[in-house]
Amino acid sequence: MDTKLSPDDGYTAVIGLGYVGLPLAAALAAAGSRVVGIDQDPAVRAAVEAGTPLFREPGLPELLAEVSDRFTVTDKLPDARPGAVIVCVGTPPEPGTNQADLTHLRSAVGMFAHALDAHCPVVIRSTVPVGTCREVVLPELKAHQDAPLLAFCPERTIQGRALAEIRSLPQIIGGLDQRAAAAASRLLAPVVPERITVSSLETAEMIKLVCNSHTDLIYGFGNEVALIAEALGLDASEVIASANLRYPRPDIARPGFVGGSCLVKDPYMLLDAARRAGHEATLVASARALNERVPEHAVQQVLTALAARGADLADATVIVCGIAYKGRPETDDVRGSAATSVQNLLANRVARLLGHDFVVADTRVSAMGFEPSELADGLSKADAVLLLSDHPGYALPDVAGLLASSPIVFDMWGMWEDALADTAGIEYMRLGRG
Ligand SMILES: NC(=O)c1ccc[n+]([C@@H]2O[C@H](COP(=O)([O-])OP(=O)(O)OC[C@H]3O[C@@H](n4cnc5c(N)ncnc54)[C@H](O)[C@@H]3O)[C@@H](O)[C@H]2O)c1
Repeated sequence: MDTKLSPDDGYTAVIGLGYVGLPLAAALAAAGSRVVGIDQDPAVRAAVEAGTPLFREPGLPELLAEVSDRFTVTDKLPDARPGAVIVCVGTPPEPGTNQADLTHLRSAVGMFAHALDAHCPVVIRSTVPVGTCREVVLPELKAHQDAPLLAFCPERTIQGRALAEIRSLPQIIGGLDQRAAAAASRLLAPVVPERITVSSLETAEMIKLVCNSHTDLIYGFGNEVALIAEALGLDASEVIASANLRYPRPDIARPGFVGGSCLVKDPYMLLDAARRAGHEATLVASARALNERVPEHAVQQVLTALAARGADLADATVIVCGIAYKGRPETDDVRGSAATSVQNLLANRVARLLGHDFVVADTRVSAMGFEPSELADGLSKADAVLLLSDHPGYALPDVAGLLASSPIVFDMWGMWEDALADTAGIEYMRLGRG
């Protein structure tokens, strides 16, 4: 890969070619920019160079093929100074804590800080705790450049529709100052038609965390309603559908698992920012805690049903359907998935723990501790089925005919309710069905 661009080439460096960085890099290249994608992982680079990213995002392989003359991939900053830098590295929770691990961010900034000139916008796109751009990134840039053009421009797209949303969602821009915000806005303008400039780096950082915490909260309320209805012996689906019907207030969300790599960490970043500032954000904390309990609730329901039958757990075969963190739009991302929690709770307790997903590769299903299974084969063998996903592929009207005799079924989203709820011999449970 050629990393010896001439200084006149004026390229944009995108650091981190994962779910966030790669679609953005491709979209910038498609809009005419010369883009250099930088990733530290050789497997990521090889896959991108081959035009077959390691993750699934509809339209991305096709776009990469289109822009191959304007997009190169490398492991380090080219010798020529970049015209702009966009940082899209991961900020995962530190193991054992809910604090963001900023190691990748620090090392990415360390890679390019020396190469900045006074006109090079630096856009941080990774999700970060409030204050990170000013306290962590800025000092490193200032060591090399008196007036860096630093901006925080959060990514708010949804996996599975990233390319369309990059080009249609309003882009929040928070600059160190007006010059920095204007430079970031000019950089992103060819891709993002609407840009909303806010007053500070911190405001933009908080907006990202608020968006995801709000999502957690509104879905969390649907789950709260589900658990209350179950306790009261009522049906949450009926309660919610009837409550929403022609009623002109915000809809109550459908119950179901709420997770994924962002929702399992971003509310904690907001909580932490609030706590450091002297405010205990109890609503945010409660929603997260409730949503995290949902997989455990599903497992508990299944274990209770097995125990009531006198079944020996150690002899049981259980299949988990839906390993990715969500089914619609479909993704192969397993970070923060319900399946991960279920695996932790059931591993080594049952005879066989089978796993099925329409998108996640069998190698990954296996690496997560499941025995990969064909859907029909697994359903025919399982004493208990946990359907965790609403992937459209699971809409099987004839599912009753695929199941073993007298299985226990926990259906997170109600995908099989019509087919199974009143079927003799099948013990059917759905989140919120009391
Ligand atoms: N996944 C999403 O849908 C989403 C949405 C909004 C925001 N975010 C945020 O965007 C950021 C990136 O998320 P992601 O899902 O794309 O992560 P990811 O793990 O898929 O990709 C990150 C990439 O960065 C590379 N990397 C890490 N350190 C590097 C370094 N120093 N130099 C070069 N490459 C490096 C990794 O090898 C990896 O390929 C996170 O902060 C995340 O919270 C993600």
